[in-house]
Amino acid sequence: PIHGQYRRPLISRFTPAAAAECAPHAREVVNRLIDGFIEGGEADLAQQLTIPLPAIVNTPVLGIPLEDRDRFQEWAVRLLASGGEDLEAIGSAMGYFDHLYEVRRDALGDDIPSLLIGLEIDGKPMDKTQFILTMIMLMTGGLDTTTNSGSHMLYYLAEHPEQRRLLVEEPDRIPAAVEELLRYLTPLPSLFRTAVSSTSVHGQAIAEGDRVQLCWMAANHDPAEFNDPDTVDLSRTPNRHFAFGVGEHRCLGANLARMELRVLLEEALPRLGEYRIVKQPDRYASVTRGISHLHAAFPRGRRYGGS
Ligand code: HEM
Repeated sequence: PIHGQYRRPLISRFTPAAAAECAPHAREVVNRLIDGFIEGGEADLAQQLTIPLPAIVNTPVLGIPLEDRDRFQEWAVRLLASGGEDLEAIGSAMGYFDHLYEVRRDALGDDIPSLLIGLEIDGKPMDKTQFILTMIMLMTGGLDTTTNSGSHMLYYLAEHPEQRRLLVEEPDRIPAAVEELLRYLTPLPSLFRTAVSSTSVHGQAIAEGDRVQLCWMAANHDPAEFNDPDTVDLSRTPNRHFAFGVGEHRCLGANLARMELRVLLEEALPRLGEYRIVKQPDRYASVTRGISHLHAAFPRGRRYGGS
């Protein structure tokens, strides 16, 4: 129950309207990243596009000072590349948020760190450890997940050129396509819970203390809910998928992630043209379906320029 006290105040920072405000920045970031490789005709779409994208776009959303973006991005990339096992990167991130706590406490602003520091939980201010853990959860929750959703979407659309062309010709279809690809791919397939009391689900007994795997991937392919669930139908409606989980812990960043993925497809698909994945993607073990390298070839294009 305490969780809700931490979560509720953050919800207003992650509404669809808040995400829409970040869209112009996300669009500029996607185009700047594409500018970095478009003239060469080949790229590692994971390392050069989908890994840096959420690290850069989420920095201002999370109230990380702009001048620290490179450090934040470096930890993000190292955490991703190591599947979360780079202890030095985790230690540096903890040290960083420890320092941020001290700095913000003396000069509260209107950002998420200030909001957290000002929170009272059960009548007491949030302590520093809780602050650090919440900031790390917000940082990591939005990286691996968004990155790998983007990588899998670009990979899937490279393998299905007729669907990719449809999205280039009719970009209004992209928001529904993002939902359908999130359903079909379920980039974060499952997490675990511990049962707090004995119960039974569809005849399966669950004892108090049992570890239960919530397999959103299976739910997203359940024929009782989705017609022809193993087929991608880019205009599927309704599409009540569980790619962002469900209930008390449902993804806080879902609107931000949707916006980033929509902008990624809107900008990358026309610019990459008839792109091909030229080698099997390199994968890494993680709670998400990790792709560390996604080598692609495409017709050489022009830079858009800008800063
Ligand atoms: C496509 C990208 C994303 C996917 C697939 C995804 C998926 C999920 C899922 C399935 C959960 C539920 C975990 C559970 O029930 O135990 C979750 C929770 C969470 N996500 Fe995301 N997520 C994404 C992007 C983001 C972004 C961009 C942020 C923030 C910047 C974020 C922050 C969080 C946080 C803070 C939680 C924990 C919420 C809670 O426990 O109350 N996520 N996410």
